[in-house]
Amino acid sequence: MSVNKPAILFLCLGNICRSPMAEGAARAAFAAAGVDAHLDSAGTSDWHIGRAPDPRAQAEMARRGADISMLRGRQLSAQDFYDFDLILAADAQNMVDAEQIMPDAATAKLQLMLDWVEHSQRSSVTDPYYGDEDGFAETWGDVSAVADALVRHYRGD
Ligand code: 4NP
Repeated sequence: MSVNKPAILFLCLGNICRSPMAEGAARAAFAAAGVDAHLDSAGTSDWHIGRAPDPRAQAEMARRGADISMLRGRQLSAQDFYDFDLILAADAQNMVDAEQIMPDAATAKLQLMLDWVEHSQRSSVTDPYYGDEDGFAETWGDVSAVADALVRHYRGD
């Protein structure tokens, strides 16, 4: 994508919890900073294609002032490795699964989301899907830190 407009894809397993929350946090942070970016999210699985984010993820984001109700699940494709500059995976398994379909000529950089967060206590964003509401607040903490770090980078801080 263009040098001036970063294109960033957030990746998790189902594309209904962590990656749409990361997309929503990034949309809010980039908009607040006035930095133009192409932001999207996807899942490594095909389990929730076309579905809205998990209601608990929507509720957590709404509490933080971000509406992600319009997002719809989609599956990562090989084309994404050309269309995006960065593909940021929530966890190590997502990295392994993404590497399976990454074309040899991929131009996107594949990284963990939390590689962007200095002094993070975790390397992977914990999957809140199987847990209780507290997990979604923890996910918000992680993805908003990622979003802030991305904005600082692309704003040129
Ligand atoms: P996500 O969480 O990868 O953060 O979207 C999950 C969502 C759904 C499932 C697993 C994880 N699932 O098993 O359906």
